[in-house]
Amino acid sequence: MSRFRIVLLPGDGIGPEVIAAAHRVLETVAGAADFDLELVEAAIGGNAIDTVGDPLPPATLRLCEESDAMLLGAVGGPQWSSLPAADRPEAGLLRLRKHFELFANLRPVTVLPELAAAAPLKPELLRDVDLLFVRELTGGIYFGPRREQGDGDDAFDNAFDTMVYSVAEVERVAHVAFQAARRRSGKVTSVDKANVLASMRLWRRTVDQVAEQYPDVTLQHILVDNCAMQLVREPAAFDVLLTPNLFGDVLSDEASVLAGSLGTLPSASLGDGSRGLYEPVHGSAPDIAGAGIANPLGAILSAALLLRYSLDREAEARSIESAVAAALAAGYRTADLAGVDDVAVSTDELTELIIHHVAAITSPASQSSQDTAKLRYNTEHFARGVGHEETTR
Ligand code: IPM
Ligand code: MG
Repeated sequence: MSRFRIVLLPGDGIGPEVIAAAHRVLETVAGAADFDLELVEAAIGGNAIDTVGDPLPPATLRLCEESDAMLLGAVGGPQWSSLPAADRPEAGLLRLRKHFELFANLRPVTVLPELAAAAPLKPELLRDVDLLFVRELTGGIYFGPRREQGDGDDAFDNAFDTMVYSVAEVERVAHVAFQAARRRSGKVTSVDKANVLASMRLWRRTVDQVAEQYPDVTLQHILVDNCAMQLVREPAAFDVLLTPNLFGDVLSDEASVLAGSLGTLPSASLGDGSRGLYEPVHGSAPDIAGAGIANPLGAILSAALLLRYSLDREAEARSIESAVAAALAAGYRTADLAGVDDVAVSTDELTELIIHHVAAITSPASQSSQDTAKLRYNTEHFARGVGHEETTR
């Protein structure tokens, strides 16, 4: 039986709660599958600063190097916000992404019919919304040269960050976007600020060159300010959105509103190999940490992406996605999503329900039952065109 090692990185705030939920779901899936999962926990972010003085301790990095995949909760919180940049919880996450050169961050945004009412936009605008952000993750302004007050010389009265992109960096992430588009509706929208920034003119030129290898895919360029507007004006017009690091960070939070809540969105960060880092798009939400009400769907659906991309286990990924859809179809939601007609449940209750559905879907006894057929009905909403072939491995 094959055995995979997964490092769980709970992190800060609601991170431990949502990772505990995903952990239980993964164990349920593995219990019924023909593979073993070894799930090990490691420290990252603020809690790692508090315990060992480093947001990405060497022991954590070693475990990650020996793993098949990593599943992270969230990092950060107000208690660490006055630390110098390199010592902050976020620095641990950025170093982890960079260490494994996870340059392509996939953030699917689908609007489940059950959740359309939870979004503040008019329901007719949300029909057929199915986006995939392909965000460049290890370059750009996040990693360019910078100078910060307090970096040894306090005399200067300015600070700067630099947006740098090389042709090679743009090419490799553009290929991921075009390959993804081939499996979806064949359309890439590349987001830049080419009217103002030199790095973004290189971005646009390079994407144009890569596009020549994909004559079957339609490419459109859009300026980031216009994109921010169009995403809420006519979101269904987009399919794959290829973005530089910073713009993808901003626009994917904006787009999460379409899906009802930031809490539901998963992400996958991939490089050249199969090892990936999976994390919900949401942050550490310190205001609700420990209250037992955090939405575990982003983490649970990230675990599904992990099974799909790093372990090549499509069937098990779908069983999780079906189970989530079934729980939502039955009206169960955490507080961030619950409307008047819904049942507002705790993190644990929703997780329990999903586990119940996963067990029903994966148990051989129920494979042929009608219930199972019903549970499977909605999985296309999650899985369409994000098959593993589109990744870079
Ligand atoms: C995200 C987060 C991170 C980012 C932070 C926590 C460093 O906002 O993954 O979207 O900016 O990339
Ligand atoms: Mg973000």
